[in-house]
Amino acid sequence: MLDDAAALRQVDRADMLGVLGGLPAQVREATANGQRLRPRVRGPFRGILFTAMGGSAMGADMAALRLGQAGDVPCAVVRGYDPPAWAGRGTLVVAVSYSGNTEETLACAQAAQRRGAQVLAITSGGELASWTEQHGGDVVRVPAGLQPRAGLGHLTFATLGALETMGLAQLGKEPEAVAAHLERLRAQLEPKGPEAANPAKQLARAMHGRIPFVYGAGALEVAARRFATQLNENPKVLCHWGPVPEAHHNELSAWFADPTLREATLPVVMQGEPPGTPVGARERASMALLQEAGARPWLLEAKGDTALARVFHAIYVGDYASVYLACLLGRDPTPVEAIQKLKQRMAEFRKG
Ligand code: PA5
Repeated sequence: MLDDAAALRQVDRADMLGVLGGLPAQVREATANGQRLRPRVRGPFRGILFTAMGGSAMGADMAALRLGQAGDVPCAVVRGYDPPAWAGRGTLVVAVSYSGNTEETLACAQAAQRRGAQVLAITSGGELASWTEQHGGDVVRVPAGLQPRAGLGHLTFATLGALETMGLAQLGKEPEAVAAHLERLRAQLEPKGPEAANPAKQLARAMHGRIPFVYGAGALEVAARRFATQLNENPKVLCHWGPVPEAHHNELSAWFADPTLREATLPVVMQGEPPGTPVGARERASMALLQEAGARPWLLEAKGDTALARVFHAIYVGDYASVYLACLLGRDPTPVEAIQKLKQRMAEFRKG
């Protein structure tokens, strides 16, 4: 089925696979979009607080990861209503919400702004865009019409491009290098790449009927989380993700103690660092110990010249695999009705 383009299209009715193919173009377009900003906000900034939820929060995580690797200003990502106590005057709040109507993101940005923080909004519009403009902040608009999770390239690189205009990031040629890397990878992963040579189709097949447990160490922690959330929303399956090294200090014990896990689950270990480094050693230890515990872990190799490229590599494999799994399960990957229902129910509960 996975090599039958017509069969894929029958399930993937809104063409999530086609949207995934556009990720390299998103990276280029979004970087230029962010870099066009003429900022109204004024530093110096002592801290950057990202506020975002769900698919948009992955864009915030990616931007924070890049700043953490090569930026001077400390940053944190909040998923929730409340900014930390340190967020106030001297803080740049980067509110990332694809729709611009996510209540947690808005509440967090507004609370920090009341304490003196300045705001940069990355959004396709909504209340976040209008509120930010009214309160003297900056808005970078990303194209509307996608699912938030399918706009990861826009959200990540519009954010980084805008931060560069504020002197908070130096991107150099990295966005172009990431886009070119993803283009090369896409040739293997896209629907016309045959299953015999397509790691995403093979991974989807291996996950079918099992609960994936995804492990990412160091920077790849972000990719592990993204993979789990894509599995939740595209094929609508449960997935557990574990950050390494933390998972080595607790859940590893369960793999050795419970043989039923071996049949019911598929551990996926992401590997991106060379063996002589602490993170690289952790990645190899994960594989070795899972094998010793009797599990058959799947190795997802993340290649690329920079941490950002490696994380995007792992994300691209996971994104395609999640959509192929949706096709195997006969579930249209695009709609997320349960999330829409939750947002409606929240509005009703708030009215009392
Ligand atoms: O994938 C989704 O639709 C969700 O995870 C949304 O991203 C989440 O609900 C937040 O909405 P938004 O991205 O519009 O801020």
